[in-house]
Amino acid sequence: MNIAIIGSGSIGTALARRLIEAGHQVTITSRSPASAREAAEGSGATVVETAIDAVADAAVVFLAVPWDAVEGLAHDLAPVAAGKIVVDVTNPMKPDGSGPLFGGNGSGAERLAAWLPGARIVKAFNTIFGSNLAGGRSRDGFRLDGFVAADDPDARMAVLRLATELGFDPIDVGPLTNAGPLEALAWLNISLNIANGWPWQSGWKLVGAERAILDPAA
Ligand SMILES: NC(=O)c1ccc[n+]([C@@H]2O[C@H](COP(=O)([O-])OP(=O)(O)OC[C@H]3O[C@@H](n4cnc5c(N)ncnc54)[C@H](OP(=O)(O)O)[C@@H]3O)[C@@H](O)[C@H]2O)c1
Repeated sequence: MNIAIIGSGSIGTALARRLIEAGHQVTITSRSPASAREAAEGSGATVVETAIDAVADAAVVFLAVPWDAVEGLAHDLAPVAAGKIVVDVTNPMKPDGSGPLFGGNGSGAERLAAWLPGARIVKAFNTIFGSNLAGGRSRDGFRLDGFVAADDPDARMAVLRLATELGFDPIDVGPLTNAGPLEALAWLNISLNIANGWPWQSGWKLVGAERAILDPAA
């Protein structure tokens, strides 16, 4: 699958590396070409100059940028994003870092869906730290959950498969209105790491859940 990653920081680079290992063709782009080049060298992705170029040839696009860049990017991508699966990895935070930006009032993903009405928006991978992407496991060995929310069932299924390929246990959390709880879940884990000085290797595992068995090859 052709996959574009916009944002070549911690999570964008880790996603690129793992998606390439899983056999996908991955392009990566960033604000600064130097940063994208460095990420490409570390992951094997191909650098693309602009986000529009990256999205044009991609079936799936990962938005791995700070939240405050998302509205501008959505505006730029609107002409080329129709029909594409756009995976929102972001965790919108209050500027003072005191909590999720939209706590109790929708989510970043729903705002993105309003800014990119033609695209198929999926919330996923935002609850997973880049440090846990390498093996899909927490440092104490648990296979972590890959929570996926989207209104488009085919897009949701495609990203559940990607999560499975990357070593996570897929959990279908239903429509995009559940992106808010996923952003809150991510915030809770972030705040615990900050408060306790943990090494950013904790992650979420829902016990007792019935899981879809997804064959990544299917
Ligand atoms: N780090 C994690 O473990 C993690 C986990 C889950 C979710 N997230 C979320 O993922 C997002 C990225 O996090 P991160 O830790 O990877 O951040 P980061 O290391 O600061 O990287 C952000 C990347 O976004 C790029 N960028 C910023 N504005 C852009 C624009 N307008 N167009 C294209 N690229 C742009 C930056 O470009 P330059 O390099 O050129 O500055 C940089 O490559 C955040 O929303 C975060 O909440 C992070």
